[in-house]
Amino acid sequence: MPNKATLEVNNQKYDFPLFVGTENEVAIDVKALRAATGGVTTIDPGYKNTGSCLSDITFLDGEKGILRYRGYSIEELAEKADFLEVVYLLIFGELPNAEQLDKFHTDIKLKSVVDDDIKKIIDAFPKSAHPMGVLSSLTSALTAFNPSSVNVDSEAEMYNAIIKILGKFPVLVAWTLRKQQGLPLDYGDNSLGYVQNILKMMFCKPNENYVENKIVLEALNKLLILHADHEQNCSTSTVRIVGSSHAGLFASISAGISALWGPLHGGANQAVLEMLEAIKQDGGDTKKYMAKAKDKQDPFRLMGFGHRVYKNFDPRAKIIKAEADKVLADLGVEDPILGIAKGLEQEALNDPYFVDRKLYPNVDFYSGIIYRAMNIPVEMFTVMFALGRLPGWIAQWREMRLRKEPIGRPRQVYTGENLRAFVDLNKR
Ligand code: SDX
Repeated sequence: MPNKATLEVNNQKYDFPLFVGTENEVAIDVKALRAATGGVTTIDPGYKNTGSCLSDITFLDGEKGILRYRGYSIEELAEKADFLEVVYLLIFGELPNAEQLDKFHTDIKLKSVVDDDIKKIIDAFPKSAHPMGVLSSLTSALTAFNPSSVNVDSEAEMYNAIIKILGKFPVLVAWTLRKQQGLPLDYGDNSLGYVQNILKMMFCKPNENYVENKIVLEALNKLLILHADHEQNCSTSTVRIVGSSHAGLFASISAGISALWGPLHGGANQAVLEMLEAIKQDGGDTKKYMAKAKDKQDPFRLMGFGHRVYKNFDPRAKIIKAEADKVLADLGVEDPILGIAKGLEQEALNDPYFVDRKLYPNVDFYSGIIYRAMNIPVEMFTVMFALGRLPGWIAQWREMRLRKEPIGRPRQVYTGENLRAFVDLNKR
C-alpha cells in the first residue's frame, strides 16, 4: 500500500502521510493540512470518520464484532478476570501479578474514605434527583477536597489521584443509591474484595447482617468488566478533551458522567427498560414499536439497538444476553421483560430496515434486565455503567496527559452572516 494520500485542492496536489496502527487500521495524517493548503480544513459532524488520537488501550473492530483491552479479548476477560485486575490492566497496560494486585487494592482501600462534608452536599439534593446528576455533582465536589490538577510529571501524584477516585467513587455510587432509598450513608468493609465491597455498601441494611449473593457478585463483576472501556466513545472523548485543558482527573470524570447520562449513550440502558416496560403495559405489541422505530416522522428509536462503530453484533451484548438467562434462572426470577426483549431482537434481526442499517443489540439492550434482577432501581442503571467505565476513563485520561497531547480545540466552517455595520436601535 502506498504510504501517502494525495489530495487535490484548487488544482494543487498535496501529499499526506498514512498512519497504520498495530491492527492495520489506516489513517490519513492531516496534522499539516491547514498550513499546507493555506487554510483548508475537514468537516465531519460526530467525528464519524475522524480519529482524535492514537491509543494503546482498547481495540475494537465494528465489522467483526471484536473488542480487546490491551490485547486481551473481552470474552476471556469477562470469563476469567476479576474486575480489579481489569482496572489495573486498562490503566497500567499489563495484568497485575498477585503482589501488584494486592498492593493496588490496599492502596485503594487506604483512600476510600470520603470527606464527611460530602454528606452535606448529598443531603441538599431532593430524593427525586436523578442519580446521574447527583453522582456527577459529587464527583466534581471531590475536586474541592482534593488537588484540582494533577502534576503528571510526578508518577506518585498521578498514582495518588487514580487510587483516590477508585477508592471514593464506589462510595459515592452507594451513597447515591442509599440516599434515594432513605438508608444511612456508611462505608463498606476493607476486608472484602473490591466488587464485594461495592455490593455491601449498596445493599447492606442497618438492622440485619449483610448476606452476600454469589450469583449477584459474579454477575456484577462480569458487567463491570464488559463496561470498562470502549475506546473513543462520547463520554471518554469528553474526559479526554476536558483533561486536555489540564483540568483535574475528578473534574474530567465528572464531565464524562454527564456525557454518559444521555439516552443515546449510557442512558440507553435505563431507556431500554422503560421502553420494554411500555411495550409490556401495551400488551406486548412489539410490532407496533418496531413500526414506530422505523417511522421517520416518529422520534421513537429502538433503544439498545444500533451503534456508531459495531455494524455487527456488539460482542458485549452477546455475553450479557447469555448472562441474563443464567442470572435470572439462578436467582429464580421470572421476568417477562426478557421475553419481550428477545422477541424484539428476533423481529429486528429479520426486518430489512434494521438489517440494511446493520442495527444490532448493543451493550445496553440486555444489561438492565440483569440490574433489575439484582434489585437495582432503573434510574441507577447508568450509574452502574459509570462505575464500570471509570477505569477506562482513568486510563484514557492518563494516556492523554502522559503523552502531553495538545488541548482539544476543533475547527469549524462558518456559515453565518458576512460583515455588516451596526444599526442604531432607533433605526431597526
Ligand atoms: C453506547 O460509542 C460507543 O462505544 C458507545 C458505547 C460505549 O460502550 O461507550 O457502546 C455505549 O452508547 C451504546 C449505544 C446506546 N444507545 C442506544 O441504544 C440508543 C439507540 N441507538 C441510536 O440512537 C443509534 O444507533 C446510536 C446513537 C447508538 C448510533 O447512532 P449513529 O451512529 O449516529 O447512527 P445514525 O443515527 O446515523 O443512524 C443510522 C441510521 C438512521 O436511519 P437513516 O437516516 O439511515 O434512514 O439508522 C437508524 C437512523 O435513523 N437508527 C435507528 C436506530 N439507530 C440508528 N433506527 C431505529 N432505532 C435505532 N435504535
